[in-house]
Amino acid sequence: MKNMILLTGATGFIGSHVLKALSEKNVQVRCLVRRPVVFEDPNITHVIGDVLDYNSLVRATEGVDTVYYFIHMMGKQKEQEKFDILDRIAIENMVRACRFNGVKRIIHLTGITNPQEKLSRHLSSRKEVEEIIRNSGTGYTIFRASVIMGRGGAAFEILDAAVRKLPIIPVFSWASTKVQPVHIEDVIRYLVECLDKKETINRCYDIGCSDVFTYKELMQVYANELGLKRIFVSIPGSWHRASSFILGKLAPVNADVVHWLIGSLQNSMVCEQSDLGEIFGFEPISFRESIRKIAHQNVLKPETMRRKISNG
Ligand SMILES: NC(=O)c1ccc[n+]([C@@H]2O[C@H](COP(=O)([O-])OP(=O)(O)OC[C@H]3O[C@@H](n4cnc5c(N)ncnc54)[C@H](OP(=O)(O)O)[C@@H]3O)[C@@H](O)[C@H]2O)c1
Repeated sequence: MKNMILLTGATGFIGSHVLKALSEKNVQVRCLVRRPVVFEDPNITHVIGDVLDYNSLVRATEGVDTVYYFIHMMGKQKEQEKFDILDRIAIENMVRACRFNGVKRIIHLTGITNPQEKLSRHLSSRKEVEEIIRNSGTGYTIFRASVIMGRGGAAFEILDAAVRKLPIIPVFSWASTKVQPVHIEDVIRYLVECLDKKETINRCYDIGCSDVFTYKELMQVYANELGLKRIFVSIPGSWHRASSFILGKLAPVNADVVHWLIGSLQNSMVCEQSDLGEIFGFEPISFRESIRKIAHQNVLKPETMRRKISNG
């Protein structure tokens, strides 16, 4: 059981990509899942559990060195309005179970937050989870990202739906908020390669490509790269409910998740400088390059393979 990894969120956007990368690395992975899953790789097993059930986490973390924590409670839950309370209970359960079983490190991905700003409910909750991990007494490595460019990512799918499906795109009070996207493959490289980099223990890193855009520019560049002519109309106010409702219908993303993510467009998501380049020896690809990669993958993967996404 030495060097066992516990992967949470293995059925989600980030967790499923990490699982694929870990299976290529030939390490022992145990996935915490709510429903049984069949894995063909003999190095990958599963344990049934729920992050809201402490006892199941004690069983899941037994003999584990590293936990990947890729959970959030937005969408899907019956008690949607309380997602932040549930997220707090879940991570408190996990850090307690990690302490009980002597887990050495929790690797987590969350959103970029700006300490100068009043955060949306979604980002306040993400920040709270991050703080609980940092203060847990267990080692950690935390990465923070904004829009992750990749099929199946909630923020990306909302961007994609807005630009592809609306010939006239209304932009609201968040049009000039700044954002620094990053491609999914780069995110996965950081998450998986940090396993072998001891210097990343007890560190937090913002990750993003070298391009910083406003949300309006992000949509303009995306439309240009897809060869779509779009008219942008500025409208005062946030129109949170109306835009969440429309995008909830257009994007293949859970409508509650769309609602919480749109609330976060008021918050800038720009990276703090760090020594990531030196530690990992690569730089993330540009926004335009990332759009081209995804467009190429679309040619290979039919639209029908898309699923209704519940992530954030
Ligand atoms: N996607 C992005 O663009 C993005 C950007 C920045 C940061 N992040 C961060 O990345 C992390 C993962 O997000 P994601 O996009 O991968 O989310 P996701 O696709 O919605 O996956 C969420 C995962 O959590 C699991 N889960 C939910 N409730 C659970 C419970 N009670 N017990 C056990 N498992 C439960 C889900 O399992 P089921 O299949 O059983 O529901 C699913 O596997 C989050 O911390 C998020 O803040 C994501």
